[in-house]
Amino acid sequence: MTNSSTSNTPKKILLNAFDMNSVGHINHGLWTHPRDESHRFNELSYWTDLAQTLEKGLFDGLFIADITGVYDVYQNGIDLTLKESIQLPSHDPTTLVSAMAAVTQNLGFGITVNLSYESPYQFARRFASLDHLTQGRIGWNIVTGYLDSAERLIGQKGLKDHDLRYAQAEEFLELCYKFWEGSWENDAVLKDKKQRIFTDPSKVHQVQHQGQFYQSQGVFQVSPSSQRTPVLFQAGASPRGLTFATQHAEGLFIGGDRPEKIKQQVDQIRNQATAQGRNAEAVKIFVGITVVTAETDELAQQKLDEYIRYASPEAGLAHFSSSVGMDLSQFADNETIPYQQTNSIASVNNKFKEQSISKNDLKAQHVLGGRYPLIVGSGATVAEKLIQLMDDTGIDGFNLTRTVAPESHHDFIQWVIPQLQQRGRYKTAYENGSLRHKLFQQGDRLSASHPVQQFRCQSTASTSNSNLNQKQSA
Ligand SMILES: Cc1cc2nc3c(=O)[nH]c(=O)nc-3n(C[C@H](O)[C@H](O)[C@H](O)COP(=O)(O)O)c2cc1C
Repeated sequence: MTNSSTSNTPKKILLNAFDMNSVGHINHGLWTHPRDESHRFNELSYWTDLAQTLEKGLFDGLFIADITGVYDVYQNGIDLTLKESIQLPSHDPTTLVSAMAAVTQNLGFGITVNLSYESPYQFARRFASLDHLTQGRIGWNIVTGYLDSAERLIGQKGLKDHDLRYAQAEEFLELCYKFWEGSWENDAVLKDKKQRIFTDPSKVHQVQHQGQFYQSQGVFQVSPSSQRTPVLFQAGASPRGLTFATQHAEGLFIGGDRPEKIKQQVDQIRNQATAQGRNAEAVKIFVGITVVTAETDELAQQKLDEYIRYASPEAGLAHFSSSVGMDLSQFADNETIPYQQTNSIASVNNKFKEQSISKNDLKAQHVLGGRYPLIVGSGATVAEKLIQLMDDTGIDGFNLTRTVAPESHHDFIQWVIPQLQQRGRYKTAYENGSLRHKLFQQGDRLSASHPVQQFRCQSTASTSNSNLNQKQSA
């Protein structure tokens, strides 16, 4: 079982559930469906049940989005955001993970944290602690934020310029690398009761950092976890975002409604990764997708028709307005929306540059309240379409949104997963090891060709692979 494209066997599909610690996430309005349980998002059992469901379906991970701030661009306020619960309320995603890890063994957790409002030290400590507790199942979705409302909440003057946010992200990451990989040698912890040496002092080193945004000096407080650096995910697709992502990220989350556009992005990502000295396949590329499935094509269509009655395309537009930083309520339904340079998600906003789009077009796209591509059909139909999209574009897998929760995940596991497995395109059991090892089959730690290498303490860098091998063969 491998996802390596160096073999001739077709790649197996990687799969994350895409969710958020909130009621409305992507497909807005479906919280009103009688069978939807997303209003229970503040109950731990809602999440522990979900984690167990996903593990039954052999999902690689649960990818948890997060936002700092509120969606107040549409109609210049938050009334609709509150009424439709468009990611408001939304709670801290990190708080969910220990509980879900306690009831699962293999499921990975990709947690979104906006670095703009974090101290690198506190953040690195929290994630290293979680990597210990989950035995190496943690990933970090690196975001820098795009909402003015967040800046006001945090007490800053206004959103930093788009490219400056990435410069800050570079330095934040560099300092995290120093904490995670440069302070403690692999064999620093001895736990030797007889000699009364828990940690060998000669193997713990001071981190020194004097940068443009951050300063730090001292030892990291957390001993090395299985992965040290969590699996790094990123979702920016602007030119600056791509340079950052192809240098650092191991998982890239891209939007994309047309296969040609997705393929173009995939080729660009792989070329840029290679130009940065990394293996083109060192970056796993995920596309966000929505699926409605049932026993037959006809029943799936009926289910979609039923869901549509509860969905809110307008709430979808309110979400979209904040993503692009432009109040879409100001345009008539059939008017072409002009491109305006904004400080928000450049890759989403570019849509208006590339195509002539009206609000009617957007509403049709948001038929289920969300902008992600929608696939409808029996398990076999959906499986064929997912495989086709993967083979046509060169992506590695999908971030699957929820529709009616948790029904849509149960449906996907019941109808689609067996069809993918029958076609040899989905695992039938988990690999052993950390999230990183499950994704790449190359051990728990980042490879020596990753930029992290220059921040590793000397003996850590030289012994990491041999320690890794011992660990895996143990
Ligand atoms: C598919 C996708 C998912 C994203 N998910 C989040 C998220 O959960 N939280 C967040 O703050 N930003 C999210 N973003 C925003 C990006 O992380 C990034 O900050 C933003 O796209 C700006 O970068 P860009 O202009 O390079 O695209 C997402 C972006 C995309 C394209």
